[in-house]
Amino acid sequence: MIYYFSGTGNSLHIAQILSRQTGWSLRPMILCDEETPEESEVTGMVFPVYGWRLPRIVEQFLQNLPLTKKRSAYFFAILTCGDDIGRTHELLRRKLKEKDIKLDAVWSVTMPNTYVALPGFDIDPKELQENKLKAAQQRLDDIISVINRRDSSITDVHTGTLAYVKTYILGHLFNRFLTKHKYFRHESTCIGCRKCERICPVGNIRCDGKGRPVWLHDCTMCLSCYHHCPIHSIAYGPFTQGKGQYICKKS
Ligand SMILES: Cc1cc2nc3c(=O)[nH]c(=O)nc-3n(C[C@H](O)[C@H](O)[C@H](O)COP(=O)(O)O)c2cc1C
Repeated sequence: MIYYFSGTGNSLHIAQILSRQTGWSLRPMILCDEETPEESEVTGMVFPVYGWRLPRIVEQFLQNLPLTKKRSAYFFAILTCGDDIGRTHELLRRKLKEKDIKLDAVWSVTMPNTYVALPGFDIDPKELQENKLKAAQQRLDDIISVINRRDSSITDVHTGTLAYVKTYILGHLFNRFLTKHKYFRHESTCIGCRKCERICPVGNIRCDGKGRPVWLHDCTMCLSCYHHCPIHSIAYGPFTQGKGQYICKKS
């Protein structure tokens, strides 16, 4: 069983390749607090890193999930990122330990960047996107071999420089101040197509009578609404102006 969360499709793409090549079934994390998941010999999690930490929805999933691990079962995680993950894997390991689950293996996989909401951050140029996607496919082949051998004590992640500072200081501030739903808005160009409402993976958007988005209070900050808007009408604060849009279309 592979549990996944994905805002813009990168993590879904990785989870789907895994599922195709191994036969393990896929399950969105968002559905999992409602039903008790089945126990399986191999359990994986695939999700993106936000602000060098776990996305809010992943934290909720870990908190609510009545998941237990059989002694013999194998548990792995793949964290997708645009560049580096800081010490997100440590946070994950700790949360799982609270549930008495040992993380046997954790990898980061670099994918096209989706963060655009601060100065200096934008989507990657097309060529870099393609290169990252190709490299990810190769990396995934290696990861699958390791999982098939059930190797444990694997930590193969790109922490980047100043990993501690990023996760425990900057990431903390990021979550506190830069992930607020109130900074989202639609421009007057909004055509009321309601696509944002349909694609929000956590159901946090309700459109008004004219089909224009209103953001509720449970945003996980995936920026899916921003990236999917067909006329680039969604903004987050002042800094998404002139930035690109990206959706992983490989899935
Ligand atoms: C709010 C937000 C924060 C992000 N923070 C990081 C980060 O700390 N490090 C990083 O390398 N990429 C970061 N990214 C990029 C994503 O982790 C990366 O593009 C990921 O593959 C997106 O996955 P998805 O398409 O499944 O949502 C961030 C993206 C968003 C939207």
